[in-house]
Amino acid sequence: MKATALAHPNIALAKYWGKRGDGHNLPAVPSLSVTLAGMRTRTTVEFVEGLAADELRLQGAVAAVGRVADLLDRVRRMAGVPLRARVDSTNDFPTSSGLASSASAFAALALAATRAAGLSLEPAALSDLARRSSVSSARSVFGGFVALRAGRAGDDALSAEVVAAADHLDLRVVVAVTHEGSKAVGSSEGMRHTVLTSPYFAAWVAHAPSLYARLREALLRGDLEALGVAAEESALAMHASAIAAAPGLLYWSSATVAALEQVRALRARGLAAWATIDAGPHVKVLTTSSDEPRVIAAMEQVPGVLRTIATRPGDGARLDEDPAA
Ligand code: PMV
Repeated sequence: MKATALAHPNIALAKYWGKRGDGHNLPAVPSLSVTLAGMRTRTTVEFVEGLAADELRLQGAVAAVGRVADLLDRVRRMAGVPLRARVDSTNDFPTSSGLASSASAFAALALAATRAAGLSLEPAALSDLARRSSVSSARSVFGGFVALRAGRAGDDALSAEVVAAADHLDLRVVVAVTHEGSKAVGSSEGMRHTVLTSPYFAAWVAHAPSLYARLREALLRGDLEALGVAAEESALAMHASAIAAAPGLLYWSSATVAALEQVRALRARGLAAWATIDAGPHVKVLTTSSDEPRVIAAMEQVPGVLRTIATRPGDGARLDEDPAA
């Protein structure tokens, strides 16, 4: 009744921002991401006889079970297991700061919890289970380049699917970390606020599918430049919809803007460099293996960039057979 799973965060190249209004945690727009080796979550779930309530430890400290208990409840119903669980989860990167920790967290939790309960789900079912807790985590179940279509009226299940393998493109993602703490407004809350108050949300929903299609085609034909251009547009359009909310939702700091300017300066010098930004102040730079060292050196020069994390396309969620190692 115990299992440990590993999962990587993913970064959306074509962003998801905003849920459909039907309460099923379905995305309003399609998204396409890359799962990132170089950062990981490790989660152990143990169903324990006699435990009165689910218990969660994050980075070794006791934390509120909240959305974790909802996922565990679903697993208990599927498996017919009545027991409460002990969950222990650690990230080797900043938590809840816009580095997509909910994606790796819920992908690892879905896999560890189902295995601990004696279930062996197909990846699509695992992705759907994770998606019900965190939309982006549906994508981290898979490795490489992963798509999640928009939800439709009447959808019961919705799973992500692989578009291309991790080695399909010579891509590196340099994360320029600008802040080590938690972000002020979580992505679910930020989306809700954008959906309810931003006059640009409808424009985002109308535009996002064509950005997604362009990016997907660029990926399939191996055109990194077209992919990078579309990814930067997607991130800026998503943030524009949030910034236009009332009051405006600005995830950026001065370091974010400085990092974005640096990426554009690198591009003007002929390097492969395109920026993407999630619901936090960090800038992630898409580049190639040959330009990566220069991109890292340049991003570390930017005022307010604390450090960089070098990542590359990686594997999906998997069991950790040797958690002590
Ligand atoms: O599913 P969540 O709550 O982790 O939201 C993810 C939102 C973004 O990271 C900004 C975009 C995305 O598609 O991952």
